[in-house]
Amino acid sequence: MVMMFVVFSGLLLLAALPTRQLEQTSSDSGQAKPAPLAFDADGTFHISIFEDLHFGENAWDAWGPQQDVNSVKVIGQVLDAEPQTGLVVLNGDLITGENTFRQNSTHYIDQIVQPMLHRGLTWASAYGNHDSDYNLSRSHLLERERRWPSSRTERMVHNDTAGVSNYYLPVYAADCQSDCTPELLLWFFDSRGGFLYQQRDPATGDRVGQPDWVDASVVGWFRQTNQQLVDGAGKAIPALAFVHIPTSASLALQKKGLDAHRQPGINDDVPVAQQGDGPCPDGTAAGGATCEQDVPFLEALTSTPGLMALFSGHDHGDTWCYRWDKATLPDFPVAGNGLNLCFGQHSGYGGYGSWIRGARQVVVSLDRLADLAVDTYIRLESGDVVGAVTLNATYGQDVYPATPNDKTKCPTC
Ligand SMILES: *[C@@H]1O[C@H](CO)[C@@H](O)[C@H](O)[C@H]1NC(C)=O
Ligand SMILES: *[C@@H]1O[C@H](CO)[C@@H](O)[C@H](O)[C@H]1NC(C)=O
Ligand SMILES: *[C@@H]1O[C@H](CO)[C@@H](O)[C@H](O)[C@H]1NC(C)=O
Ligand SMILES: *[C@@H]1O[C@H](CO)[C@@H](O)[C@H](O)[C@H]1NC(C)=O
Repeated sequence: MVMMFVVFSGLLLLAALPTRQLEQTSSDSGQAKPAPLAFDADGTFHISIFEDLHFGENAWDAWGPQQDVNSVKVIGQVLDAEPQTGLVVLNGDLITGENTFRQNSTHYIDQIVQPMLHRGLTWASAYGNHDSDYNLSRSHLLERERRWPSSRTERMVHNDTAGVSNYYLPVYAADCQSDCTPELLLWFFDSRGGFLYQQRDPATGDRVGQPDWVDASVVGWFRQTNQQLVDGAGKAIPALAFVHIPTSASLALQKKGLDAHRQPGINDDVPVAQQGDGPCPDGTAAGGATCEQDVPFLEALTSTPGLMALFSGHDHGDTWCYRWDKATLPDFPVAGNGLNLCFGQHSGYGGYGSWIRGARQVVVSLDRLADLAVDTYIRLESGDVVGAVTLNATYGQDVYPATPNDKTKCPTC
């Protein structure tokens, strides 16, 4: 029965995807894949985004493993409150790589995915800076994930410098049989960072850092692949994107100032830690706002019609969405086009901060896509919903309730 289903879904994949993607996906893994993503019969598609889970803290004492137990509970509680979830996104820092042991550093994946396996859900990851360290390799993480056919994480860019989790997933209409144009595209980008696996500087013995922005090879792949998809569809396809580290545009927008009723959310991480937040190529130690390492990535994002929002994690204390319009940042090197830049909610008990745990939810409705509008809110571990907004043409002017800044109430976390 299970075999039959897998074979059938493989055929559906063959029929539904553009030929070029087919070559890329089938060369990456011989494993059976889940059926392509599709909207529900009611015309909606629900995404649940968990970020900064930070499994594997302090494996050597009682506190660390207890945080992992707590984090598994958060995932289960949120998913039970969101029974229509069609895809779980793991938006980076799944594991705290600096605490891991080489022989079992990726085994935490087995714990992370349990709540999804129990509920028959599939997931897709964008790796974070803590997912690369001396004892933790991103490509091993991908291998560990891919032991389950429920993982949709892929590697579509093979340049040495690209990182790993760069790929896209098409989402089809509920009644798609074959040869359908995707109704929605989900792009996943690897913002890299952290440290290279098993590499030390020969002179100092220090771990070797990895650049913390989306690589030029990925930007080129994104532009080219999106153009092929647009050409195939004969129109721009509505899209959402995920990347762990926010861009320097989020930092600039935060500097400009947030309004608690127009960009509701917690804003405790000031300034935003952004892509390119490290030494500049010329050796000066300024942050990305002056190095602008992510400008090519931002230029590609803002020149992609249909791309509605980019979701990031990394800054556990920031949970807002900001609509980046052309007039918003006159002095910034890239002009906005209405792209929404969103943080989620710190989901894990590992990692810094005690902001109440939760997960950003995104509800895409086919009947709103003509206006490129999506609904989003944060489901907390308490079951409450906060920060519900519609990312549409007037987001940023519309008035919403402010988000309470609640903390997890427990003595050891
Ligand atoms: C990995 O190995 C360490 C050291 O033996 C142990 O403390 C830890 O619990 C292990 N972690 C996993 C996920 O197996
Ligand atoms: C890496 O893993 C090895 C083998 O388990 C362990 O001895 C070491 O302490 C770990 N951490 C670092 C930073 O090397
Ligand atoms: C891909 O990587 C090679 C080095 O392996 C580099 O020379 C080349 O410029 C990269 N391509 C892009 C588009 O960044
Ligand atoms: C955007 O959504 C808000 C909240 O639902 C609504 O009040 C506003 O009218 C919408 N704007 C447009 C242009 O549809």
